[in-house]
Amino acid sequence: MAKKLSGRVALVTGGARGIGAACAKALADAGAAVLITDVLDDEGEKTAAAIDSRGGSAGYRHHDVRDESAWHEAVGECERRFGGLDILINNAGIFSAKPMSATSIEEFRHMQSINVEGVFLGLKTAIPAIAKRAKQWPGGGSIVNLSSIAGLVGAAFAVPYNASKGAVRIMTKGAALECAALGLAIRVNSVHPGLIDTTMGQDLMKDFSALGGGGANEVRANMIALHPLGRLGVAEDIANAVLFLASDDAAFMTGSELVVDGGLTAR
Ligand SMILES: NC(=O)c1ccc[n+]([C@@H]2O[C@H](COP(=O)([O-])OP(=O)(O)OC[C@H]3O[C@@H](n4cnc5c(N)ncnc54)[C@H](O)[C@@H]3O)[C@@H](O)[C@H]2O)c1
Repeated sequence: MAKKLSGRVALVTGGARGIGAACAKALADAGAAVLITDVLDDEGEKTAAAIDSRGGSAGYRHHDVRDESAWHEAVGECERRFGGLDILINNAGIFSAKPMSATSIEEFRHMQSINVEGVFLGLKTAIPAIAKRAKQWPGGGSIVNLSSIAGLVGAAFAVPYNASKGAVRIMTKGAALECAALGLAIRVNSVHPGLIDTTMGQDLMKDFSALGGGGANEVRANMIALHPLGRLGVAEDIANAVLFLASDDAAFMTGSELVVDGGLTAR
C-alpha cells in the first residue's frame, strides 16, 4: 500500500536535532523524500544518514534561514535532487530567557531575524516552488510553521520570543489567505508546542534556574506542573501534529493553529 506521503518532497529547517529531526523522520517514515537543513552540519548529516539507514530518503544541506540566497539554493536542491517541493516545515528557531532590562536591541533583532525573518523568507521562496505541482495532491501543498504557546500567551522573561512567535502565528494566517486568494492549493498552518524536552527546552530550564527559579530538579518539576497531562512534551509529540498538517488528512485546514501543549493553555 502506498504510504501517506509517497511521492512528496519535504524541506525541514533546523532539522539536525530536536523537533525538526523528529519531523524529518516522521515525514520520511510516511514516504516523503526529505531535505534537512541547519547550521549544525555534523548533527544534520547524522540525522539524514539515520533516515537513509532505516530505508527513507533524506539529504542534508547547510542553510542559515536568515540568508535569502541560501533559501533559493535549498529549494533548488529539492527540485534537482528529488524532483520538486511539496512540504515546507519552518522549524528553525532560537530561544533565550532574560529580563527586558538585560536584553539589548541587537539581541531582540537577532531573535527576530531567525524566528520571524527566517519564516518569511521560507514562505516567500518555497511557495512558488510548491505551487508548481500542489494541485496534483488531494490536500495540495503544505507549509507548517513552528510557533509556540509563547505565540498565544505571554511568558515573563521571554518578551523577544513572545514577539517572534506571535508574529509567526499571525504571519501564518496571512500567508494562508494569500495562497488561497491566489488559488495556489497550498495550506499554511502553525503548531504551538508546550515545553518540549529538547536541547532548547533543557536550555530554557537552565535559563529559568539561573534567573532564580530554583535548582534543576525544582525548575523541571515546576515546568511539568504547568502541563495538566503531567509531563513535558517530547519531539515526537510535535512531529505527529506536523505530519498530520503536512498530509492530505488536513486537506480542509489552512490558517489554523494546532496547540500541542499537554493542556497548558487550556486553563
Ligand atoms: N523545545 C520547546 O520547548 C519548544 C516549544 C515551543 C516551540 N518550539 C519551537 O520549535 C522549533 C524547534 O525547537 P527545538 O526544541 O527542536 O530546538 P533545538 O534548539 O533543539 O533545535 C533548533 C534547531 O534550529 C537550528 N537553527 C537555529 N538557528 C538557525 C538558523 N539561523 N538557521 C538554520 N537553523 C537554525 C539549530 O541549529 C537547531 O538544530 C523552534 O522554532 C522552537 O522555537 C520549541
